[in-house]
Amino acid sequence: MQALIFDKRKYDWDNSKGFEKVDVPMPTIQKDDDVIIRVHYAGVCGSDKGIWYRQAFKEQILNSIDAENNPTQPPLTLRGGEKQNPPLKIRGEGGVMNPKSYRIIGHEFFGEVVEVGKAVNNIKKGDFVSCESHVVDNKCYQCLLGQKEVCTNEKILGISHDGGFAEYARVPAHVVRKTDTGKIRPEVAAMQEPFGNAVHAASKVDMKDKTVAIFGLGPIGLFLLLIAKARGAKSIIGVEPNPISIEMAKKLGIDYVIPLRTTNHYESTNPYKHNAEVTDEIIQITKGVGVDVSFEMAGYNSSVNNCLYATRRGGEIILFGIKQGDFIFENYNRLIVHGFTLHAVIGRQLWQTWETTRELLEDHTNQIQEKLFNVILDQGKNTILPLSDYTKERFEQMLHDHPKFLIQM
Ligand SMILES: NC(=O)c1ccc[n+]([C@@H]2O[C@H](COP(=O)([O-])OP(=O)(O)OC[C@H]3O[C@@H](n4cnc5c(N)ncnc54)[C@H](O)[C@@H]3O)[C@@H](O)[C@H]2O)c1
Ligand SMILES: [Zn+2]
Ligand SMILES: [Zn+2]
Repeated sequence: MQALIFDKRKYDWDNSKGFEKVDVPMPTIQKDDDVIIRVHYAGVCGSDKGIWYRQAFKEQILNSIDAENNPTQPPLTLRGGEKQNPPLKIRGEGGVMNPKSYRIIGHEFFGEVVEVGKAVNNIKKGDFVSCESHVVDNKCYQCLLGQKEVCTNEKILGISHDGGFAEYARVPAHVVRKTDTGKIRPEVAAMQEPFGNAVHAASKVDMKDKTVAIFGLGPIGLFLLLIAKARGAKSIIGVEPNPISIEMAKKLGIDYVIPLRTTNHYESTNPYKHNAEVTDEIIQITKGVGVDVSFEMAGYNSSVNNCLYATRRGGEIILFGIKQGDFIFENYNRLIVHGFTLHAVIGRQLWQTWETTRELLEDHTNQIQEKLFNVILDQGKNTILPLSDYTKERFEQMLHDHPKFLIQM
């Protein structure tokens, strides 16, 4: 079957970019709880962009490929204490002499179940499904407490477990979620995973009659905008540098957008500091008070500090954007004195977030599903790339042109 992969044998991570379209072996049922899905659509997001440009997930991808080939052997300890993975000699999908050296990318997808292992009883052949991308172990301390989104031993589809940029995908049944295609169209069904991120972020606060600021109107920030409107927010202010995303937010009915002219993170001095121009404007819009709720949906240090300076005393700040490395809280004392509540949000809660996602998408009175397809996917115009038409150039152009696009298998 055809798949988009990163192959560590062919490419040096640090001196390459992009995904290769190659023929790989069809996945087969290997464990009793395996499910094989014929993928129809797969969503492309910022995380995939991070892999494309080799800016994110290097260790997770490289180490997990090694671990798949050597499932039982612990890493060897060399003289000097450093670890090295043992020689590749155990059977991979490529056979004993040809250990598997690639990762199939893609963690947002939708398709039809074509085969299930004999222990599977939640899903059957012919079901239309999407997947939770965090493959949890269901047995660590947090999983047993019901906090599966912070599982100690999780693997992530398309990063540390083969994903859905392929004609077929093999996943454990416990991450598979049925979708009613009579109620949710397939292109939207393929976006349930990232939409669920926004649902989870939104679940931390009551937005009814509140003023809300969203810092970063990438796809997940735009999803959040739709949810904030459905939840009855009084007014919604967005902050975003990219004109394409700004236009989209306007079409989706945002009340105010503040175009970010200078993004501090590109400056060499004090890249962590808040943009006073932006936060002053938010204070002005909210009549000197500040917003009740701020969502950090971009993942930059200056953007976190923008939240701290745009939120009213006693307000709530949801931290969702991710970057590696240290962040500085500007004027830490102020954070305490203003009595903010900070929430860090990761992934989706199983399965509460998926259930809310389903309700929001199936309820046509909120027009969310319609706006996802008509505005964010622009009715599929140049936002759906058939796998057969994949070229590196075309894919890279789409990464640049669209906050969200899909691959059609
Ligand atoms: N917590 C989680 O579980 C989780 C899951 C997926 C993604 N993420 C992270 O959440 C963030 C949003 O995800 P996405 O897929 O929408 O990402 P994205 O990178 O597509 O969107 C980020 C948006 O922020 C804008 N931006 C850049 N600098 C900004 C700034 N200083 N202030 C305001 N906006 C700025 C960008 O132009 C872009 O539109 C990313 O950081 C991503 O890595 C977190
Ligand atoms: Zn994603
Ligand atoms: Zn766990």
